[in-house]
Order: sequence, then C-alpha cells, then structure tokens
Amino acid sequence: MIFYYSGCGNSKFIAKSIAEALNDKLVFIPEAQREGKFEYNLAENETLGFVYPIYSWRPPHLVEEFVNSLKINGKPSYVWTAVTCGDNVGETEKIFRKELEAIGLSLDAAFCFKMPNTYVNMVGMSVDKPEIANEKIAKAKEKLPKVIDLIKQHAKYSDMIKGGLPRFKSNVIGSGFYKWASDKPFFSTDDCISCGMCVKVCPMQNITMDNGRPHWNGHCNTCDACYHHCPKHAIQYGKTTRGKGQYFFKD
Ligand SMILES: Cc1cc2nc3c(=O)[nH]c(=O)nc-3n(C[C@H](O)[C@H](O)[C@H](O)COP(=O)(O)O)c2cc1C
Repeated sequence: MIFYYSGCGNSKFIAKSIAEALNDKLVFIPEAQREGKFEYNLAENETLGFVYPIYSWRPPHLVEEFVNSLKINGKPSYVWTAVTCGDNVGETEKIFRKELEAIGLSLDAAFCFKMPNTYVNMVGMSVDKPEIANEKIAKAKEKLPKVIDLIKQHAKYSDMIKGGLPRFKSNVIGSGFYKWASDKPFFSTDDCISCGMCVKVCPMQNITMDNGRPHWNGHCNTCDACYHHCPKHAIQYGKTTRGKGQYFFKD
C-alpha cells in the first residue's frame, strides 16, 4: 500500500510509477482524510510506502496529521518513503521516522527525488527555468528504476539531500511555516475565464466558485496547484507571484 500526497503532480508521478512497478495500490491522503479513512489492514508480507513533496524542509502538515491518526493492522514487511523536493529536505527523514515510530512503524528506507520547484509564494522563490526543470525530471526518471529495485530488495537505504542548516530549517522555519502560510493572499485577476480549473485541481477541495470567480475557503495547503494550472495565469498570491512562471508535472 502506498499513501501519497501531491499538489502539482511531481509526487503523484513518483508514487504512480512505483505503484505500477510493484503492482501496489495507491491511497491519496487528502481523500482518505476527507473520508475519515485512517485504519488499514495489511496482507501478509505487504509493504508500506509514503510519497509526498517537501514543504518547508519537512513533510506537509496534512501528511503529518494523517500519519498521526493512521492505524495499520498487520506488520508491514518493509516501510519506505520517497519524497520530492526542489532542492533539499532538511531533517525530514528524522522527523518522519519519529512520526512513524509513534504509530508503531519502523522506517527502512528514505528516497529523495529532486523535481521542479512549485513554491512561488515568497519573494525570491520562483519556478525553475525550463531547462533546469527538464533536467531534474530526466534525472528523476533515470533514478526511478534504481529506487524500485531497492524497494523490491527491501534494502535499508537513505539518500536524502539534507542541505545546509537542516535542524534550523526543519525545526524553526518548518515548524513555524503554517503559522503564517495562508490562502488569504490568493486572488484571481480580470483574466479569469471562470473555467473552474482551480476548483478541479485543488487537492484539498478548498476552492469554490463565487460569482464566476474562485474563492479560497481557508483550509489550503499552499501547494499552489491553482496558481500553476490556471490556463490564463489569472491566479496570484498577493504581490509575490507577480511576473513569475507556472509549472505542473505533465508526462
Ligand atoms: C509550500 C511549499 C513549500 C516547499 N518547500 C520546499 C523545501 O523546503 N525544500 C525544497 O527543496 N522544496 C520545497 N518545495 C518544492 C516542492 O517540494 C517540490 O517542487 C515538489 O516536487 C512538489 O511536489 P508536487 O508537485 O507533488 O506538489 C516547496 C513547495 C511548496 C508548495
């Protein structure tokens, strides 16, 4: 069983590719959370995987909340995680290991895929240039078969890219992130054509249409899927996204 979360498709691509290769089933975390599905029965020798993007050098809040509520019946033969990040992950592995231990699971392997950056809500943060984005995707595709082999072998493994000052980034910046991350600055410009794409792609089902314009309802993950998928580039986040590009994973 593979639990996954993805805003702009990078982590979905990794989760789907691994699931297909292992003939494993996928559980989309936001959907499971909405449906209150926190208890799962494992078959004998079944493995358990967790795939998600890095948000502020740690697992996204909803992934942490989901894992805190998760009840797994049966002992997995192997527990792995694969994360996607734009650059680096800080102490995510350590944090996630502890969160799994708290529900009786022991992490065997942690894999990391560098993928195009999706975070644009801060001054100085933008999407990668197309050639860098394409290079990251090509390298991730090259790495996938190796990771799949390691999972098949139940290998003990860790290749997380921690980056500089990992403790500070994960525990100080990362822990404070959701105190100020909010959907209040999102708005649509007059280029909006009321197509509803933003409503469709929001993994949190946080967007509704109000008089033909998107309205954000306060339970946002700041994944930026709405911003990146808008066909008219009509969604902005205050002034910080002005002049920035869009990206979402297209296979
Ligand atoms: C809110 C937010 C915070 C992010 N924080 C980090 C980070 O701390 N380090 C990093 O390397 N990438 C960071 N990123 C980039 C994403 O981890 C990366 O682009 C990821 O592949 C997106 O996955 P997705 O397409 O499945 O949503 C962040 C992206 C978002 C939206």
